[in-house]
Amino acid sequence: MKILAIETSCDETACAVVEDGRRVLCSAIFSQIPDHRLYGGVVPEIASRAHCEQIVAVTSSALEEAGITLPELDAVAVTYAPGLVGALLVGVSFAKGLCITLNKPLIPVHHIRGHIAACYLAHPALKPPFLCLVVSGGHSHILEVRNYTDFKVVGKTRDDAAGEAFDKAARVLGLPYPGGVEMDKLAATSATGKYRLPNPKVEGHPFDLSFSGLKTAVVNLAHNAEQKGEELDKAALAADFSERVADMLSSRLFVAAAQLGYKTVACAGGVSANSQLRDRLERDAAAAGLSLYLPPLHLCVDNAAMIGAQAFYEYRAGNVADYSLNAVASLGIDGVE
Ligand code: KG4
Ligand code: ZN
Repeated sequence: MKILAIETSCDETACAVVEDGRRVLCSAIFSQIPDHRLYGGVVPEIASRAHCEQIVAVTSSALEEAGITLPELDAVAVTYAPGLVGALLVGVSFAKGLCITLNKPLIPVHHIRGHIAACYLAHPALKPPFLCLVVSGGHSHILEVRNYTDFKVVGKTRDDAAGEAFDKAARVLGLPYPGGVEMDKLAATSATGKYRLPNPKVEGHPFDLSFSGLKTAVVNLAHNAEQKGEELDKAALAADFSERVADMLSSRLFVAAAQLGYKTVACAGGVSANSQLRDRLERDAAAAGLSLYLPPLHLCVDNAAMIGAQAFYEYRAGNVADYSLNAVASLGIDGVE
């Protein structure tokens, strides 16, 4: 089954064709980063307008890359939640138009389910059940992937998402948008251990996370250095910050795996591209004797191939939308708003 997938939930306009949930026939991404860098973050209206301008060209180039014509497709999938509503609506409306023209089913895909499915594309052996850490710009969850379309959140952040924490810390350090990847690069240039950062825990909830104290610590260090006229060692702070985030995320994941009896764990979402996090997860998995699955770097950040992968399993489970499908800004992975 060949599914054309559309992803426009944030600042990437993406289109891919995926066969049977596991084989990527083509994947095209137009990144809007230069448009938003000027403002230090994603500007929703600029994102929607850029999707509107690019969606046809991105889709055409994906199809051209694979040598596939529209009538050869079996279905069209689209990210409908969560994300920026104006941005999502471009993809949803475009997907509906294609479905009407081609008379093919429309498959709605939850963005975070898509991030998890990125792991299926890279790892043919990976099948549910497994425990997954999902860390993106808007989400930090530990969840049980009980089946391809059945999820249970067992841990979550009480405040910022991990990606948000990286982006905010990066901003304090004066790094350009997108901050997470810049923090990663800067951290790689320094040793760790110079700055002592807090390790916030959520009392009574061993799988939950909290990043606001860590973010405040970075803000305070920057202010204190400024007031005293001292030079902040930005690379060392980036390294210690990244190490602390990796420690928080990985330790929670493996405590959850041990308590819930999972032998297979995975990590997905934009922050799963972080080099310190990947190293730490690999080390902890080896120490615990668990199998760890990570997406390759190009599938960590937003793309449409992951949406096409998840769409196959949604379709198999009977999740097909009618033409009243709407975009939803905020929606849990289990479909609860
Ligand atoms: O999954 P994603 O592309 O978009 C959302 O669904 O939110 O994740 C984007 C987030 C941003 O906060 C970005 O700064 C972060 O992932 N990110 C990273 C890295 N690459 C992307 N954070 C830390 N290290 C990275 N290498
Ligand atoms: Zn994402």
